[in-house]
Order: sequence, then C-alpha cells, then structure tokens
Amino acid sequence: MTSDTETLWLFPLLSKCTSLAFFSFFFLLFLLKSIFLWSHPGGPAWANHNVIPGPRGLPFIGSMLLMTGLAHRKIAASAQAYGAKRLMAFSLGQTRVIVTCHPDVAKEILNGSTFVDRPVKESARILMFDRAIGFAPYGAYWRTLRRIAAMHLFCPKQMKASERQRKVISDEMVEIMHRKRESICVRDLIRRASLCNMIWSVFGRKYRLDSNDVQLLELRKLVDEGYEVLGTCNWTDHLPWLAEFDPQGIRFRCSNLLPKVKRFVNRIIQEHRAQTSEVSADFTHVLLSLQGSDRLSDSDMIAVLWEMIFRGTDTVAVMMEWILARLVLHPDVQSRIQEELDRVVGRYRPIRESDIANLVHLPALVKEVLRLHPPGPLLSWARMAISDTTVDGHHVAAGTTAMVNMWAISRDPHLWKEPSEFRSERFAKDFSVMGSDLRLAPFGSGRRSCPGKNLGLTTVSFWVASLLQEFELDGNNVDLTEVLKLSCEMANPLILNVRPRRTSTTSFL
Ligand code: HEM
Repeated sequence: MTSDTETLWLFPLLSKCTSLAFFSFFFLLFLLKSIFLWSHPGGPAWANHNVIPGPRGLPFIGSMLLMTGLAHRKIAASAQAYGAKRLMAFSLGQTRVIVTCHPDVAKEILNGSTFVDRPVKESARILMFDRAIGFAPYGAYWRTLRRIAAMHLFCPKQMKASERQRKVISDEMVEIMHRKRESICVRDLIRRASLCNMIWSVFGRKYRLDSNDVQLLELRKLVDEGYEVLGTCNWTDHLPWLAEFDPQGIRFRCSNLLPKVKRFVNRIIQEHRAQTSEVSADFTHVLLSLQGSDRLSDSDMIAVLWEMIFRGTDTVAVMMEWILARLVLHPDVQSRIQEELDRVVGRYRPIRESDIANLVHLPALVKEVLRLHPPGPLLSWARMAISDTTVDGHHVAAGTTAMVNMWAISRDPHLWKEPSEFRSERFAKDFSVMGSDLRLAPFGSGRRSCPGKNLGLTTVSFWVASLLQEFELDGNNVDLTEVLKLSCEMANPLILNVRPRRTSTTSFL
C-alpha cells in the first residue's frame, strides 16, 4: 500500500525534476551563448564577424540604449571613447550596425554602390513607406519613382512653376505676423506654411494658413502621428523575440493610422479622377497620367503621395525654426543680412527667389545652421549593404546597417575652426552642401541622397529672406536644447517678437 502511494507522487515529482533540470540546462546554455556573443567587440550581433572596434553594450540588447535620447551625441562620444571615429561597430539587439564620424569613410559608404538599400522598420512597412521612394528596395521600382519625382516635382521647370505658390504662402505668413507681432509661436505657423505648401504641390489644394478647414486639420494630425511613430526607435525591429508583445505600442498605432491615411489620400485620388474641367499640374495628376510600365497601382500612388507630404513638411519647418532662433541670438548676423537685402533688393519691391543667387550672407547663414543643427544628424534614414563589401579596410557583410554621424563630422575640430562657434562668415566663400563635400552633407550623398534638397533649400531661403525684409526679429529665452525625433528639433518652441522694418505705405500685401 505504502509503495503504491509513494509511486503516486514520486513519478510526477521525478518528471517535474527532470523537466526542471532540462529547462535549467537549456537556460544555462542560452545564457552562456549570450555571454559569449556579447563578449565580441561591437556586441552580440557581431559574433563571427570581423573585428571593428566598438562597444559591447549589454547582453541580449547590445547598444540599444545608444539610440535613446540624443543618439547622435551618444554615438559621437562612444566613437571617441573607443578610438573608432573612422568606423565603429555596435549591435542593436540582433542588428549589426557600423557608424562613421569621418568624411572619407562617409563618402565610401554613401557614394559607393553597396549601401543603397534601407533597413525597413516595422512602422515604415505598415505605413507603406516601402512602396515609396525613401524605403523602397534599391532596384527598378525605386529608380522609376525617383525619375518620376525628379521630372515632375523637383526639376527646375516645376520649381519655377511653384514659385508663385511659395510667395503666396510667405505673404500669408507675413500678414499673420503683422497682426500678432508679439509672442508668436513660430513653430505652429511654419509647420502650417510647410504643410500647406506641400498640399498645394502634391494635391493641388490651396488652404489659407489661418484656415480651420477640417481636412487640413485632419491631415496635420495624420502627419504628426506618422512623424512620431516613425521617429521612435522600435525595439522589436532589433529584438524579434519581443515582436509578439509590441511593448511600445508602435504596431498598434501604425495599424490605426494606416486606414485613415488610405481613406484620406484615396479620396483625393478619386476626386482628381472625377475632375473633367481644367486639370492642374499637381503631383496627384502627374501620377494619374502615367502610362505603360510607369503606371502605379492606387495603393502605390497613396504611398508615394503620402511620403511627399510627410517628408516635405517637417524637414523644412524644423530647419526654419533653427534659422530663426539663430537670427535672434545673433543680431549682428541679422543686420548684416538685412543690409545686404536692402542693397540688392531694396525695401520697395518684394524679394523674388531669383534674388537669392545674388546674396552672400543669407546662404552663408543657412549653411552655418545646417552645420550646427542638421535636421537629420544621423542622416535621418540609415543605409543597408546589399552585398558583402569592405569599408575602411574592414570586411562588412551584406545586410549590415550603416549610419553616418553628420552632426559629429560637421563639429569635428580637425575639419572646422572653432566648430562650436556660430560663425556664418565661414561660408562667405562658396561651399556646396549638396553632397559633393562630405564635411557638410546634410542632405546625404550618392544615389539615395535627398531628392527634395533644392526644393527644401529654396523654400527655406526664400521664406527667411521674406521675413527678414519685412521684420526685425527678436525673442526671449531662446533655448537651443535639442530633441531627436525623426528630425532633430528645438526641444522648446521658439517664441518670436517682430518689428516691421517698412512703413505701411510700402506694404507689398
Ligand atoms: C529641407 C530640408 C531637408 C533635409 C535636411 C533633408 C534631408 C534628407 C536626408 C539626410 C536624406 C537621406 C539621404 C541619404 O540617405 O543619403 C533624405 C532623403 C529623402 N528626402 Fe529629404 N530632406 C529635406 C527636404 C526634403 C523635401 C522637401 C522632400 C520632398 C518633398 C524630401 C524627400 C526625401 C525623400 C523622398 C528621401 C528618400 C530618398 C531615397 O531614399 O532615395 N526631403 N532627405
């Protein structure tokens, strides 16, 4: 009897112990393997790869913490600490990453033919960005999109055609500032201006900046939400075992956002299709008129149109806010530009975009702001190697993510005299920021460089010049603290006071 009872509880206990021992054994193996992988320079993702100096980070997650907060500053400090400014390796969970803070290596990465893909984040995939230019895999589809955008949105003829539109918007900005004059939160105003500008080019719709139109407000909300989810470093992109849990709620938010974006953009496409009268030259019409192999499906069209609105809005607004902040902090630079504007344009006719080519100090200011406050300090979106390659003498395998720390390069004391000083005169002599000189390439370089750089630069330069012709800018407590989202923006919005420079009889409005 006793022995029967014993066997009744002994067997389950024994089997429990065996499975516990089994589990412990495998857990120990897993732990040992993780520690072994982690012990490799560059952290867990670099085991079995060439040795490139870099931080190990933590077991399992590697250097994920480098990507939180002001990642460009943390990466620069880490590269300095490891003596790895030319090339540093690190792991984001299971993702192998290389980063350079050196212009020669940046050129190798950006201008070569290997790092021409982008690592696609889950958020970008859900929001269909992999069907638009920015995240489309390198190949025929991406080339077609770039060609269409270059021919119909960014070419000099189209830039000329949209000049009037930028002028109308800058006039509205000036008008609103004239009305308000004190304590103007420029961020709200510039973002509206920038959004209205892109909506006009892409959807052919004109909204006033002070409009409370529901569609305009809805689109603003969609762009804001997309900006936030895309700008968040999603841990599940690098730690697949976390994917089930969606711990930051990114998948949930993207899945909510996508149907709204689709509904919004699809409505505009259908309205364009239904138009029988005079057809405007907006980008939606361009896409609808494509024939043959260039023809896009409705869903691809939505992706491309949405990307243009999305990319063109915040980059311009972020860059402009930094410029206005610097103008307030450096009144001598402001006066110098205004004197030049008075001399070249005068106070009695409005500035035209063609005048910018005759100015020295305004383009110099824009470049100095791009040097100290590049909107994409890590060039916004990383690159990915499509095949095995060599970078700065190190073997790098296909699938490795590459970043360029443009922020660190443009503040390197070996490349720039007194790099942390704001001295726009350093750009009084010609210097191209369009990607040929990697000491300052805020729009990237090579095949995947920014296709909107001319449009962005022209818009920002013209709007800033228009404001400076009209107003003296002033402000209190300008705070240059940064926050890194999709772009690197001012943590605390700039509040401006403006004083008109011209009497009302000379008003252009
Ligand atoms: C004005 C400020 C702007 C800045 C600082 C900026 C910066 C950048 C950077 C750094 C890249 C990545 C380049 C690379 O990987 O080498 C990029 C890509 C891109 N930008 Fe811009 N950009 C600006 C304006 C615009 C505008 C106005 C548009 C469109 C309306 C635009 C559309 C794009 C697109 C579609 C890509 C992806 C290109 C590709 O992957 O082939 N950008 N931008």
